[in-house]
Amino acid sequence: MIKLTLILSLFFISGKMRQLNQHLVGITMKSTNSKSNGSNIFSNHTIGNITLKNRLAVAPMTRVSANEDGTTGALMKDYYQSFAQGGFALIITEGIYTDKHYSQGYKFQPGLTDEAQVESWKGITDAVHKSDGVIIAQLMHAGALSQYNKYIGHSAAPSAVKPLGKEMTFYYGYGDYSVPKTMTKEDIDNVIKGFVNAAKLAKRAGFDGVEIHGANGYLLDQFITVYTNKRTDEYGGELVNRLRIYKEIITSVREAVGQDFIIGIRFSQSKVNDSEYKWPEQSADAKYTFQSAKRFGVDYIHTTEFIAKESAFEGSLSLAEFAKKYGDVHVIANGSVNSEDDAKLLIDSNQADIISLGKIALANQNWPNVIKDKQNLQGFSFDMFNPIADLKTAKEFLAKNG
Ligand SMILES: Cc1cc2nc3c(=O)[nH]c(=O)nc-3n(C[C@H](O)[C@H](O)[C@H](O)COP(=O)(O)O)c2cc1C
Repeated sequence: MIKLTLILSLFFISGKMRQLNQHLVGITMKSTNSKSNGSNIFSNHTIGNITLKNRLAVAPMTRVSANEDGTTGALMKDYYQSFAQGGFALIITEGIYTDKHYSQGYKFQPGLTDEAQVESWKGITDAVHKSDGVIIAQLMHAGALSQYNKYIGHSAAPSAVKPLGKEMTFYYGYGDYSVPKTMTKEDIDNVIKGFVNAAKLAKRAGFDGVEIHGANGYLLDQFITVYTNKRTDEYGGELVNRLRIYKEIITSVREAVGQDFIIGIRFSQSKVNDSEYKWPEQSADAKYTFQSAKRFGVDYIHTTEFIAKESAFEGSLSLAEFAKKYGDVHVIANGSVNSEDDAKLLIDSNQADIISLGKIALANQNWPNVIKDKQNLQGFSFDMFNPIADLKTAKEFLAKNG
């Protein structure tokens, strides 16, 4: 358990485990029953032609619980439906792989690349809709961080740079990451085609939109990060070039799915394998990146930081506020939003339109209803991911401790 917690602290929580623990302990001790009156967290919010019944979303979380062929696994329908039943307006799925080339990151990760996978998702989107929820598919290409690839067997990335850190054991990884192959122009075209195809399949599977995973150190983030992108072609160098793949994916997906299908983009500074990383030009990068995202045609920007409400850079706005200011699209903020007060602070001060909850939602799949009913929240425990961060382990953990 200590080992797992250490690894998780490296990957998810910026080396600030102690702070997080204190924070979570605070939650278990504290009654969360106060002051929902006057807050906007339970007010409607409309994106395109979709109206969310409140501002509360489930953050994307990889659960390695699909079948080996990338169809959804037996426990996934109840898992996703339970968040809708628990009052979350919006559910963003775990990262779904987009092609049968280099996109897959994990064994037992679900895909959106073929008919069988589309059919398997239909039961889930239907169940969420029946429970009055909206569901968005997160589309993800793992790039250099791929730990498993059923199709090609090795990874590819902007440049042949060995990733920092170690593979994640709770996703069946072990040891160092491999050195990826440098993507050719043809590989990049296949990446774009993969996102387009997966978005079209997501629409057919009944999703309300797609979120393009541009964060956390995965492929797209490898393009914007200077030390993983050593390219000298039009995809490397200045930020405008490092963002080119985002532009090509977003504009191509928009062309394929039309205006009435939600497209979001996720951005972070830190990475699962580099928790301290900051954008090199700080606010100038934030301004340019978010202005670009709007220009490329997204409906929303989803920012994730260790603590959403904190300054992105010394004394600056939070990353979500930068997205609001310069992106001028709907903004979802994520990161250590655990209590009702955390949620209200971000929404009521207009730092974000929606907040997404990760680990605390796993411990409280009915977080919105708990808050509404003035009940106490359960604390989150990393034991839920030990030894594997899948739904079976979590279910067994909750049966014992829930
Ligand atoms: C088990 C687990 C799996 C995750 N998988 C993904 C993922 O597939 N895509 C993604 O963008 N973020 C992923 N994340 C990051 C979360 O979306 C979120 O940003 C992070 O947990 C911080 O939010 P929190 O403080 O509310 O937990 C994952 C986090 C956890 C704990």
